[in-house]
This record gives sequence, structure tokens and C-alpha cells, in this order.
Amino acid sequence: MNPKINKSALVTGITGQDGSYLAELLLDRGYRVFGMVRRSSSSSTQRIDHLIQGDTPRVQLVPGDLADIASLRQVLEATRPDEVYNLAAQSHVSVSFQMPIYTSDVTGMGALRLLEALRELQMTDVRLYQAASSEMFGNATESPQSEQTPLMPRNPYAVAKVFAFHAVRTYREAYGMFAVNGILFNHESPRRGKQFVTRKISSGVAEIVHGKRESIALGNLAACRDWGYAGDYVEAMWQMLQQDSPSDLVVATGETHSVREFCDRAFAHAGLPLQWRGEGLNEHGVDKRGVTRVHVDPEYFRPAEVNYLLGNPARAKAELGWAPQVSFGQLVEMMVDADLAATGGGGAQAASRCASG
Ligand code: NAP
Ligand code: GDD
Repeated sequence: MNPKINKSALVTGITGQDGSYLAELLLDRGYRVFGMVRRSSSSSTQRIDHLIQGDTPRVQLVPGDLADIASLRQVLEATRPDEVYNLAAQSHVSVSFQMPIYTSDVTGMGALRLLEALRELQMTDVRLYQAASSEMFGNATESPQSEQTPLMPRNPYAVAKVFAFHAVRTYREAYGMFAVNGILFNHESPRRGKQFVTRKISSGVAEIVHGKRESIALGNLAACRDWGYAGDYVEAMWQMLQQDSPSDLVVATGETHSVREFCDRAFAHAGLPLQWRGEGLNEHGVDKRGVTRVHVDPEYFRPAEVNYLLGNPARAKAELGWAPQVSFGQLVEMMVDADLAATGGGGAQAASRCASG
């Protein structure tokens, strides 16, 4: 896009969904991109292999872990970036109930370690983006949620994100850092981890179409989320660091849909429209032959649920000129098509086989 930009960026969490899209965007804009990766005995770079393989890798990986401030200092000293995007986190809400202390340490304290490493190294002129979350609103007191909505976290992940949110604000105010929180609502893509509900549904639909499974077990079908496309959201992250002054912004579509509705769209796109029968634990979605394709399993309920999220992106629109490009329907279809193609080859073909079969 702009090969004249001569900046460098460090992305933590580069192996994740957002990190992979952001790395592509930054490279397109002429950045030198460093990606921090934690040590693992097996590779987790599938989403960025196209950027790191070959004779001239486009992204340079550096070892580091948000749990270890010494490694963060080394990464910052070695890379000396203009911009840091802190996307790394233990990002799964259910897991945060099983591992609350670990989640707090990585997702909450990890952000503080990064801020403190920047301060210790006198690198407070580096611009920092912190991946905050709509989960911080919890069961919100108002709808839609905006930058003014009180934070009422309902799970250890959200508690950790609130801690990081305030740490960023504190360093901004105390040390004059250009450090911002992007309060992003849920964003999905074909690269989404399969433990998150949208990808669990799209990959499950593909496996059903290809005869690899009969049904999908889900938790709260009534939960509503403001789902956008991750490729659109990394654009907002970048724009937030290009502003004249730092501010925290909500990034959302302004539409909300239930898990049940996501299922409806995904199955219909694959040629298996659902009808819902029963209630509560007995609710299930059946196809037109009467075969159950979705059922409820309490294993996927959370000890405390965030039932409804809907974002107000007015300030992001006004200050960044940002607006989502991909609609909810397009997002669902994109994800189902990608999983149909990956699972058995030929998304549209497989779906039409299903529709006629
Ligand atoms: P993701 O796919 O789960 O990726 C998380 C990344 O963090 C991975 O690269 C992971 O590395 C890395 N990581 C985990 N623990 C680490 C540690 N101790 N040190 C260094 N790296 C570590 O998450 P995502 O969906 O891309 O989300 C990106 C960020 O935005 C996260 O902070 C998330 O909480 C936040 N967020 C996401 C959404 C959304 O809807 N996607 C919405 C709001 C906020 P490995 O590959 O080694 O596991
Ligand atoms: N994961 C999952 N699995 N969720 C389910 C299931 C299931 O089988 N069945 C119903 N759900 C419901 C969850 O209870 C929740 O209400 C909703 O689907 C979305 O769950 P996830 O896709 O796991 O996402 P999340 O909203 O909890 O968290 C994601 O979005 C946050 C932004 O609001 C993550 O990406 C977080 O990292 C992010 O901050």
C-alpha cells in the first residue's frame, strides 16, 4: 500500500488469528515486522508460515514470553520497534475459569511487564497498542456498549484484561506514553481457533457435510455477540497507532447475533437448513430429514456467562474513519466455505451435494 513507510513493528501473539492478519497488513504498508514467539517443542506458526518460510522470510521471529520480563527486555532491545502491538494472551474465556492465576499472569500482568520493560529501557516514545476486549463489559449496564460503559468483568480473562486496560491508561498518563486500548468486540475468520464458538460451528458443519461426524455439541445457544471479521479489525488497530493523540476506542459492527443464529446461517449455507425443537437442555437443531445436527451439552456452559454484547463503534468511525467491510452473513459464509474446502475440497460443490442429497 505505502512502500515509503520506513517503520518497524513488534507483534506479540503473531502466531494467533489477529497476529497473522496484522503482520500481513504491516508488511503491505512497508513495515519491518518482528514477531515475538514463545518457546514450544512443536510449531505453532501455521498461520504465518507463508511469511516466515523460504530464503527471504518477510517476518523475523524473536523468542520471548509475556510471563518473563527479562525476555521482553531482550526482545525490545534487539528489535527497537517504532510500534508494539500486544496481542499475546491466554485468550479463551472458559480456560480462564480453569486457569485463573495463569490467565491473570499472562493476560493481565503480561501487559504490565511489557509497559514496565519499555519504561525501564527508556523506550517510552514507542507507540503501544493493547488488545483490550468487549468481555470487560461483562453483563453490561447499558446497550450498546461504548467507551463510556462501566467495566463489569464476569470471568478471570476479563478481570485480567481490565487490569491491563488500566495499566495502559496509567502509563499513558504517568509517563506520557502513546499507549492505547483497542476495545475490540468478537472478530472471527477462517483462521479462528477451533475452540471458539464460530469456528467450532463452521468446522463442525464441514465435518458433517463430509460425513466425518453427525452433530455438534454446544453450550449457551442464546448468547449474543457482535461478530465482525478479523481482517477488518486489524486495520483499526493500525489506525489507532497513527492518530495524533492516543485514545481508547471501541471497535465493533453495531449488530449482534445469537449462537443459534450463527448455526442457522452456517448450516443453511451448507445446504442443511435447521429447525429448532425442544427447550433448555433438550433444545436441538434438526435438518429436514429429522437428523439432529446441533444439541446442547452443559459441559460447554460457563460458571458465569456474558449473555449479550453489542458495540457502538461511533467514535472509531468518527476518529479513524473506520467501518467494517464484511457483513455477518458474509463472515459466516466465508468461514463455512473455507472449512468445507479444507475438510473435503470444494465448498460450494459439497454444499450443493448436501442440498440435493
Ligand atoms: P489467539 O488466536 O488466541 O492468539 C493468542 C496469541 O498469544 C498466540 O500467538 C499465542 O501464542 C500467544 N501467547 C499466549 N500466551 C503467550 C505468552 N505467555 N507469551 C507470549 N505469547 C503468548 O488470539 P486472537 O483471537 O488472535 O486475539 C488477539 C488478542 O486480542 C488477544 O489478546 C485476545 O485476548 C484479544 N481479543 C480478541 C478478540 C477476538 O474476538 N479475537 C476480541 C477482543 C480481544 P501460541 O501460538 O504460542 O499459543
Ligand atoms: N467456545 C464456545 N464453545 N462458546 C460457546 C459454545 C461452545 O461450545 N456454545 C456456546 N458458546 C457461547 C459462549 O458461552 C459465549 O457466550 C459465546 O458462545 C462466544 O464464545 P467464544 O467464541 O468462546 O468467545 P467469547 O465471546 O467468550 O470470547 C472471545 O471474544 C472476546 C471478545 O468479546 C475471545 O476471542 C476473547 O479472547 C475476546 O476477548
